Amino acid sequence: MTRKIVLTGDRPTGSLHLGHLVGSLESRVALQFSSDQYVMVADVQALTDYFENPQKVMNNMLEVVADYIAVGIEPELTTIFIQSQIPALAELTAYYMNLTSISRLERNPTVKAEIAQKSFGESIPAGFLCYPISQTADITAFRADLVPVGEDQLPMIELSNEIVRKFNRIYNTDCLKESKAHLSNVKRLVGIDGKAKASKSLNNAIFLNDLPQVIHDKVYSMFTDPDHIRVSDPGKVEGNVVFTYLDAFYKEKDEIASLKKKYAQGGLGDVVLKSLLNDILQKKIKPIREKRETLSKKNLLEICFEGTKKARDIAQTTLQEVKEAMKISFFKE
Ligand code: TRP
Repeated sequence: MTRKIVLTGDRPTGSLHLGHLVGSLESRVALQFSSDQYVMVADVQALTDYFENPQKVMNNMLEVVADYIAVGIEPELTTIFIQSQIPALAELTAYYMNLTSISRLERNPTVKAEIAQKSFGESIPAGFLCYPISQTADITAFRADLVPVGEDQLPMIELSNEIVRKFNRIYNTDCLKESKAHLSNVKRLVGIDGKAKASKSLNNAIFLNDLPQVIHDKVYSMFTDPDHIRVSDPGKVEGNVVFTYLDAFYKEKDEIASLKKKYAQGGLGDVVLKSLLNDILQKKIKPIREKRETLSKKNLLEICFEGTKKARDIAQTTLQEVKEAMKISFFKE
């Protein structure tokens, strides 16, 4: 069996959180042993939001790489690289731009939701609207088979595959390869407010670098059931964030089932549940925090430098083949 190629990435717009951990980071840790894995810090994509504040993107870049290493992604097994340092990705983006339409991008459900959230009004930056095209460049440059992502990224992979098919058809080639999303069991982790998915920008997430007291306070502020006033009242399990997190992070499934039953009947207080969840999350995040503390900036930069060097060669090779397929490879080296 040939080894699968895995590619994924994160926008360095803040530290990573528990949603990333269960949605994608844990899959990456597992996949790195059986595949050729590339993990990208998507700073170019982050700039589509934060073009006015590149310093913020820059500062978060090393935070994200620290998160990777802290959760167990190993630079010896996984190539970690920086998107902006791979010129071939920008070139591929330029060629793929012609293979989709503005209306197709505007209909992308993830892009649509983000646009609504950001209130760009009439002036949506072109770069923002086009970031799914640049993401297609990321995926295809490495000929990824699998892309471990959360559910919100499915429309990106669909678009990427559409562009791949169109490219291969128009230029009569099999140069590009379609990819598949690799979803974890927890596809989307709700925010602690219960309103939307856990997100950096909504600040409703528990971050991998949160201190114990912060984790505690966030757990105790979680949305439960507003009608569950007295311990003896029957409570709602559905939409109760504490149960959602127990489902995602607590291995004792039978115990969760019996807690849910008891809560629904009445007689189980929120504080008991929150204290259980707090213990579980503290245990989960402690080794991540400890590993993080051993990493130096110099270490992290070195990891990025080595990974980027390797990634640059691979993307360049794909770009060369793309240009040959398009018959625009004029001055072949
Ligand atoms: N869009 C992803 C996110 O929001 C980041 C990303 C950029 C990505 N390029 C990618 C993910 C390629 C998977 C594959 O976090």
